[in-house]
Amino acid sequence: MSEVYPVPAETAKNALIDNDKYNEWYERSVKDPDGFWGEHGKRIDWIKPFTKVKNVSYSGDVSIKWFEDGTLNVSANCLDRHLAKRRDQTAIIWEGDDPNESAHITYGDLHERVCRLANAMTDLGVKKGDRVTIYLPMIPEAAVAMLACARVGAVHSIVFGGFSPDALAGRIQDCDSSLLITADEGLRGGRKVPLKANVDKALETCWSCKSVIVVKRTGGDIHMVTGRDHWYHDLVAKAAPTHTPVEMSAEDPLFLLYTSGSTGKPKGVVHTTGGYLVYASMTHQYVFDYHEGDIYWCTADVGWVTGHSYIVYGPLANGAITLMFEGIPNYPTVSRFWDVVDKHKVNIFYTAPTAIRSLMREGEEPVKKTSRASLRLLGSVGEPINPEAWTWYHRVVGDGRCPIVDTWWQTETGGILITPLPGATALKPGSATRPFFGVKPVMVDAEGKTLEGAVEGNLCLAEPGWPGQMRTLWGDHERFKQSYFATYQGMYFTGDGARRDEDGYYWITGRVDDVINVSGHRMGTAEVESALVAHPKVAEAAVVGYPHDIKGQGIYAYVTLVAGEEPSEDLRKELVNWVRKEIGPIASPDLIQWSPGLPKTRSGKIMRRILRKIAENDFGSLGDTSTLADPGVVDDLIDSRMNRG
Ligand code: WT7
Repeated sequence: MSEVYPVPAETAKNALIDNDKYNEWYERSVKDPDGFWGEHGKRIDWIKPFTKVKNVSYSGDVSIKWFEDGTLNVSANCLDRHLAKRRDQTAIIWEGDDPNESAHITYGDLHERVCRLANAMTDLGVKKGDRVTIYLPMIPEAAVAMLACARVGAVHSIVFGGFSPDALAGRIQDCDSSLLITADEGLRGGRKVPLKANVDKALETCWSCKSVIVVKRTGGDIHMVTGRDHWYHDLVAKAAPTHTPVEMSAEDPLFLLYTSGSTGKPKGVVHTTGGYLVYASMTHQYVFDYHEGDIYWCTADVGWVTGHSYIVYGPLANGAITLMFEGIPNYPTVSRFWDVVDKHKVNIFYTAPTAIRSLMREGEEPVKKTSRASLRLLGSVGEPINPEAWTWYHRVVGDGRCPIVDTWWQTETGGILITPLPGATALKPGSATRPFFGVKPVMVDAEGKTLEGAVEGNLCLAEPGWPGQMRTLWGDHERFKQSYFATYQGMYFTGDGARRDEDGYYWITGRVDDVINVSGHRMGTAEVESALVAHPKVAEAAVVGYPHDIKGQGIYAYVTLVAGEEPSEDLRKELVNWVRKEIGPIASPDLIQWSPGLPKTRSGKIMRRILRKIAENDFGSLGDTSTLADPGVVDDLIDSRMNRG
């Protein structure tokens, strides 16, 4: 039995949603989705109001539409509609990598900046429906660029600044972006990231991209290509400060975001305009119990979906104050998060378990020497939070006073799906607890049989669903159907395993497919494998995850060298660097095992189950190995395993 943390009296007193309201709303959301979402759809401003609410089918060709005959503009919802009341209220608090650098940007300022960039983009020929790739550090211009795209109806695709030139190029080519917005260099933990140099390299193979807008962040020495590259500050200085937002259909794409799948190249997840904004803003308000004037900080990067929904779109649609942080948790010191909380009097703090675990290792003193009195609510996202990290977060960071919302969701879901609501849900450390409105979790076994009661199984989601869900994969609806709706008929398969307890609480156990979660970043084992085999000395590679104290999962690679090549420590380092260069630092293998042979079936299929077990240092229970072509390779792999802890 795990410990239960009831809703604190202080939280209950002011919370937007209590347990009765949660139950009542939840019932209605799944029994009368049209009525429920028809009402909540009005929380945003429509140019032409919708008359249809839900039009969803998880079977056949799979079609997901919400509010389909309504029109709106997301940028107008995040900016213009707040101006009457909030022109001089802070929209974004920006905290630089350097603790002496910060800024407050009001809704009025932000509106003007977005209008100027929207005009500049239009002058460069960007039109409704065009794709724009954004490759920026965590500076206000990232939010400005997103909102400017939304304003002109362009579809943005943000590529995390830690991705390599090759990874960036692949994402530009897949969606044929015509414009790229970047910076000279990024700055993280005092170190420079050569963004523009990476862009120059990437664009050598991207014919669609005609223009580059470059924000001057560090003033570092970069090369500007005449006719192609433009300084951001020059363009916006010349552009007009007002702009009429383009009227968009609810189902026009708002953005693409590439994420890893279990096979093949990254998938371009497509989110659309109306349903996404309704869902991002509604979850932001209720999950974080956001009240007028609260200072809210999500530590994610805008390169991930968390940054899209919970730094930019959700908060700004709600007229909130959102903090954007350029730096990292341990620079200049491991107290940085808490120093920033005190400096800006943060009330709501949302971060990832990997950050908590790495700070936990530094002891309590760097936390305890700060005040944190402003904090009211804590959040977690990205991977399962182990109960030990949860209780440390609660006791040390929150002084036992702040509830923790452990929010489970995915790039594909657009917003939070399983989560406590602070005023409604008693907490259990390690459990994401209960579904948000409209979300209907179903547990199934490997054969697709629905399981009732307290059970463990694969987590699927049944209709009616929620309006923030992805609609398709960019240019590949077939892969969309195959990846998410083919495994279990008529249901969305999440790729996660979960346990449901006797109280109906969900405990996410992690991915059940070949996707691994490294420090809350999603990585396809197939992507790392294909980077490895691209190295001239590598004949074959198999990559699996293994438990890692800080990162949640580490990357474990089995590598077979081409005949005549000898394993060495130097080659190991070379391969790690190779993968960093091919994909980015987040994909670096933690452990590489030389494997002259891999366990294969007689038909040549690698038995990954066995490789996972050996990587986990749990080889006592390898299961049936009788179908292996050469069972002897298993003993050799066990003998030379790299994870002995
Ligand atoms: C995968 C999605 C959601 C935004 C960040 C990650 C894992 C995410 C939790 C959580 C347990 C979690 C799942 C999911 N995950 N949040 N609170 N508890 N697992 O988005 O990169 O699309 O990854 O992250 O395995 O499938 P993503």
